[in-house]
Amino acid sequence: ALISLRQLLDHAAEHGYGLPAFNVNNLEQVQAIMQAAAAVNSPVILQGSAGARAYAGEPFLRHLIAAAIEMYPHIPVCMHQDHGATPGVCFRSIQSGFSSVMMDGSLREDGKTPASYEYNVEVTRKVVELAHACGVSVEGELGCLGSLETGKAGEEDGHGAEGELDHSMLLTDPDEAADFVQKTQVDALAIAIGTSHGAYKFSSKPTGKVLRIDRVKAIHQRIPNVHLVMHGSSSVPEDWLAVINQHGGDMGQTYGVPVEEIVEGIKNGVRKVNIDTDLRMASTGAIRRHLATDRKNFDPRKFLKEATKAMQAICEDRYRAFGSAGMA
Ligand code: G3H
Ligand code: 13P
Ligand code: ZN
Repeated sequence: ALISLRQLLDHAAEHGYGLPAFNVNNLEQVQAIMQAAAAVNSPVILQGSAGARAYAGEPFLRHLIAAAIEMYPHIPVCMHQDHGATPGVCFRSIQSGFSSVMMDGSLREDGKTPASYEYNVEVTRKVVELAHACGVSVEGELGCLGSLETGKAGEEDGHGAEGELDHSMLLTDPDEAADFVQKTQVDALAIAIGTSHGAYKFSSKPTGKVLRIDRVKAIHQRIPNVHLVMHGSSSVPEDWLAVINQHGGDMGQTYGVPVEEIVEGIKNGVRKVNIDTDLRMASTGAIRRHLATDRKNFDPRKFLKEATKAMQAICEDRYRAFGSAGMA
C-alpha cells in the first residue's frame, strides 16, 4: 500500500529503526528492492530523482512504482521525490501521485550554488503548505553535503554544491535546525554530518569514525519530533569495486560510509538513509562479470537478472542492518 513518509518514519521512530531509501530509475532496481523487502518483510522507500524522471519519463517512473505496490500489497511503500530543486518540481510530483517530496533549498535552483538560509526557509515553507494540504510529507535539507576533509561536494555524478564549500556549511547547526523546522514545519530533515554524494567519498580506508555522530545527537535532542535523514550513505562495497575493475572497469580506489556508522546514526535519530551508488555499483559489476564470463550470451534478460540479484543482496543487507526487517 502507498504510505506517506511521515507515517513510515513515525513507525520507525517508535520502534527505533531506520529505513534505507533507494533511488530507482528502471524495472530491475524496483524489482530488486521489492524482492528484498518481501524476503525480509521490510517497509520500503522508493525515491525518484529529476535524473530518474528524465531517464525513464514521468509516466514510466510512476507506473513502475504503482506496479510494485500492486504486486506487493502487504508491503507499505513510500513514493518519494528526491532532491526537488524548486517548489515547481515538488508540485508536479505531488500531482503525479508521490506521497512524499524533498524540497532541497540548501542549494539554488541550479542545484549547485549554496543558497541563503532565508531562501531555504521560503521555498521549503511554500512546499510544506501545499503538500500537507494534500497529505504529502516533506523532507527539507539544511547544510551542504561535502567532505569534511577537503570541503568538496564530492560529486562525480549526482547532485551537490560546486567548488569548495565554507566549512560551516558542512555541519548542520542544531539551533538553526530548530528554527528551520519551526518556520517550515517539515516532516524530515536532511542534515550535513560528513557524508557526500557519489562513489568518491573517502580516499583512504576509514579507520575510526568518519561521521559526526555527536552532531546527529545534538540535532536530535533539539528537534526530537523531526525525522533525520542521511544523504550520501552508500558504503561503496569493496567487493563490487574489485569485480568492476577485474572485468574491464576503471574506477578509482575509494571508500564509502561504513554500515556500522550508519547504524550509530540510527541509534541517535536518523530514520531515512539515502542509497544510490551501492546499487549502481552492484549492477554494473554483475553485468560486467556476466558479459565477460558468458561471452556467447546476447539475451539481456540474463545479465539483467544478475544485476537484479546483486542489488537484491545489498538491499537485504541494509534492511537487516538498519532494523527495518520484520517491520512491514
Ligand atoms: O542524490 C542523487 C542521487 O544519487 C540521484 O542521482 O540525479 O543521477 O539520478 P541522479
Ligand atoms: P549515494 O551517492 O551515497 O548513494 O547517496 C545517494 C543520495 O543521497 C540520494 O539522494
Ligand atoms: Zn541526496
